[in-house]
Amino acid sequence: MTVEERSDIQGQRLLPVLLKIAEEVGSGAGSKGQVADYIPALSQVDPTSFGFAVAGIDGEVIGVGDWQTPFSIQSVSKAFSLALTLAGSGESLWTRVGREPSGDPFNSLMQLEHEEGIPRNPFINAGALVVTDRLLTLTGDASATVLRLLRTESGNPHVDFDPVVAASEAAEGDRNAALAHFMAGYGNLENPVTHVLKHYFSQCSIAMSCRDLATAGLFLARHGLRGDGSRLLDRRATKQINSLMLTCGAYDAAGEFAFRVGLPGKSGVGGGILAVVPGLCTLCVWSPALDRCGNSVAGVDALDRFTTLTGLSVF
Ligand code: DON
Repeated sequence: MTVEERSDIQGQRLLPVLLKIAEEVGSGAGSKGQVADYIPALSQVDPTSFGFAVAGIDGEVIGVGDWQTPFSIQSVSKAFSLALTLAGSGESLWTRVGREPSGDPFNSLMQLEHEEGIPRNPFINAGALVVTDRLLTLTGDASATVLRLLRTESGNPHVDFDPVVAASEAAEGDRNAALAHFMAGYGNLENPVTHVLKHYFSQCSIAMSCRDLATAGLFLARHGLRGDGSRLLDRRATKQINSLMLTCGAYDAAGEFAFRVGLPGKSGVGGGILAVVPGLCTLCVWSPALDRCGNSVAGVDALDRFTTLTGLSVF
């Protein structure tokens, strides 16, 4: 990467690109796709919302639209719980969860029966439940550990759980409970199912803006270094998380996401997507209307436009 490319972020020269994307993509947000309603509290969100932030590895952040409005991060939290778990217990996690794309919906039970309770990857719900379980064993309080990381790395002490969203998800949580019980039946959970679910729902309920989420994810662009220069992950583990985001971060649309965007990305049913340009910056886009795989329609469109207009992809 040239010095000139770096200064594109630092000198805010990307702002016109974001404004163009907001006009071309953001103005139509909500016209395609559906807001998630299987978690009732999420269905209240305005489908026309659209925000896009870019954070440079030096911490400077620029954004457009609703980039400072908090939304439910949902599965984007899985990238952070995975980072903390790998930081705490390293490679041993991989005996309990795989690294292959599933090709099935994020909440599917099907593969678990054929594959002895070992989820395909840490980003489908079954895999994320195993990660939360491991983090619970490691720390005694998995969701508080995720929250602490997000607060510290975003620099925003007001980032918090949304108890209404967590309760709403718990009330409709039969699918996740089934996944957790099924894996417990194979001996792939260390903690009681109710504890694992509570921490998983809490971490998914965390509300953050594009600004804060892009900033919090910068360790993924900095090869594992946190905002204060200390190391959260070694380069290899950071590479592994980014690789998993590329191959599994958008579930059964991960191939399409990689094809269109060309960056590691992690989506959530709140409509957020965190994407990483290693060594340069993170991107966070939010628009709540989702495609049938649970990924933000305008979010993927916006990231596609961004990498096309700037050439900033890993390929
Ligand atoms: O467990 C669930 O179903 C939600 N808390 C998270 C799912 C999710 O965000 C999938 N993302 N696209």
